[in-house]
Amino acid sequence: VLAIWHQLTKAEIPELTKCSVLMRERSRVEETIYAMRRAGAGSLQVISDFDMTLTRFAHNGRRVPTTHNILDNRLLINEDCTRKMKELLNTYYPIEIDASRSAEEKLPLMVEWWTRVHELLIQQRIRKDLLAQAVKESNTMLRDGYKGFFDGLAEHQVPLLIFSAGVGDVLEEVIRQNHVFHPNVHIISNYMDFDHTGVLRAFKGQLIHTFNKREGALSHAAGLRELQGRPNVLLLGDSLGDLTMADGVSEPQNVLTIGFLNDQVEERKETYVNSFDIVLVKDETMDVPNAIFRYIT
Ligand code: C5P
Ligand code: MG
Repeated sequence: VLAIWHQLTKAEIPELTKCSVLMRERSRVEETIYAMRRAGAGSLQVISDFDMTLTRFAHNGRRVPTTHNILDNRLLINEDCTRKMKELLNTYYPIEIDASRSAEEKLPLMVEWWTRVHELLIQQRIRKDLLAQAVKESNTMLRDGYKGFFDGLAEHQVPLLIFSAGVGDVLEEVIRQNHVFHPNVHIISNYMDFDHTGVLRAFKGQLIHTFNKREGALSHAAGLRELQGRPNVLLLGDSLGDLTMADGVSEPQNVLTIGFLNDQVEERKETYVNSFDIVLVKDETMDVPNAIFRYIT
């Protein structure tokens, strides 16, 4: 039976045979996809990370900014703040992606990074009414094929939960300006809290960083009505921390995890293959998730 299935996915999802696609257990992937197809779009939800998962990692050899880095614009912050944020990025990003450290080890350092950056941003008294302009002026870019991804999910009324440790207000503006902020999109992220004059004074709620998404999943995602009764989950992420984004799903049946391996490829390949069902190596497109979704629905 497995051999026949294998033939099937080869013919119907040729994207899975690209050499940038790695799978620990191809048969498990195929079984999960078939089960999802049998259950249909009505049983499915998609949970995705944002920065470097829905957005590109790089374009023409240059890094694409994350939601935090979009804020690096003179409209919003001064030179001194830019310099300090860069220093923090240079210190903490290598730790975030370090294959030789455990998530437990990284956790307090990530809290430190996010807290310090948020404090810097608050000091800059960022104005809400300038965020849209900063996004326009940035080099942010969603992955190739993003339109088919967002539009396809909306068309089949499959909820898309975007779960991001980035800045929610900026994230919303990015998808709005790309015309894909459809009604099926739900977002859990770090939102800015503005005073009555529209000046940033704090961040709302519990801080979300790369390695505490499980807590957010249990406290926020689990309560979202639109996600109830959808036991099949397609999960997309670029960090090992993203794997916990589905921990709030009650009684999950079929969960398929797709990991974008953008950076430190050789160092992290083995761990990624052991952790995600499908690993996409330096793939700046949504081709594989789109092909799987098309097959399921
Ligand atoms: O949406 P996502 O959860 O991926 O957003 C978090 C990402 O933002 C992290 O992977 C981290 O590298 C990046 N980040 C950043 N600047 C910060 C904090 C996080 O670029 N100050
Ligand atoms: Mg990410």
